[in-house]
Amino acid sequence: MRVLGIETSCDETGVAIYDTERGLLAHRLYSQIALHAEYGGVVPELASRDHVRKLLPLIEEVMAAAQTTPAQLQAVAYTAGPGLIGALLVGACFGRSLAYAWNVPAIDVHHMEGHLLAPLLEPNPPEFPFVALLVSGGHTQLVDVEAIGRYKMLGESVDDAAGEAFDKTAKMLDLDYPGGPLVAKLAESGTPGRFEFPRPMTDRPGLDFSFSGLKTYTLNTIAQHAGADGLPDDQTCADIAWAFQEAVVDTLVIKCRRALEQTGKRTLVIAGGVSANRRLREKLTAGLAKIRGQVFYARQEFCTDNGAMIAFAGAQRLLAGQQAPLEISVFPRWNMEGLAPISH
Ligand code: KG4
Ligand code: ZN
Repeated sequence: MRVLGIETSCDETGVAIYDTERGLLAHRLYSQIALHAEYGGVVPELASRDHVRKLLPLIEEVMAAAQTTPAQLQAVAYTAGPGLIGALLVGACFGRSLAYAWNVPAIDVHHMEGHLLAPLLEPNPPEFPFVALLVSGGHTQLVDVEAIGRYKMLGESVDDAAGEAFDKTAKMLDLDYPGGPLVAKLAESGTPGRFEFPRPMTDRPGLDFSFSGLKTYTLNTIAQHAGADGLPDDQTCADIAWAFQEAVVDTLVIKCRRALEQTGKRTLVIAGGVSANRRLREKLTAGLAKIRGQVFYARQEFCTDNGAMIAFAGAQRLLAGQQAPLEISVFPRWNMEGLAPISH
């Protein structure tokens, strides 16, 4: 079965075709980063309009690259939430309408389920059951995953998401948007140990996260060392980036180990934009080896938003006989625990 996947929940237009026998046939991504850069963050209305402009050419490109005609598609999957309502509506209207015109089912995909399943696109995919750490711009969640669609939330951020904390720290250090990769890059030239930032909520039991205090701590450290231009010198900025990243990474590692111990599981899957972070991958791999756990993640380009994960998640739900109703609905807030389980 062949599925066209469409992702438009935020600032990337992603399109892909996944074939349940042959795997991923083609994928394309258009990032709106340049469009939003001058505003220092995503402007929702601009995002929606740009999805409208880019979606059709991208679909045509992917269909050509995958040498696929509409008659060869068995479904159209689109991200129905969570995300920006206008941006979601663009993908949902396109996806639902194409499915109607081509007389195939439409599949409404949960964006975070897309992220969670992205590592299954890799050559050595993890086996169920596992614990998933979802770390994106909007979410930080630890999920107990029994099978596709069988999710139990173990813990989540009570305030900022990990990616959001990276983005806000980038802003404080006068780096561009999105800041995660830039903070990570700056941290590479940081002096280990010059600053020691707190590891929030690790000294008490539980699997929830909080990153807003760390943000304030970072802001205060910057202020203490700021020169006339409001910023510390370059080396101090790098040292702060190092300390910040180390604190976030350690906090995530501690909670992941705890989640595996609590559930008795050995496999951890990390997904979402922050799972692209090299230091996080390194420290998780080392930290879990100590408890004979193994960590799985997607290739770099499938950690951040993309169409491939939506086509893949849609294909799994199509195989289980699920589809979206004719009515077009999107869910800017959507709890993953409420998804239908699938068993095939
Ligand atoms: O999953 P994603 O593309 O979009 C959402 O669903 O939110 O995640 C984007 C987030 C941004 O906050 C970005 O700064 C962060 O992921 N990010 C990173 C890295 N690459 C992306 N954070 C830390 N290190 C990275 N290498
Ligand atoms: Zn995402």
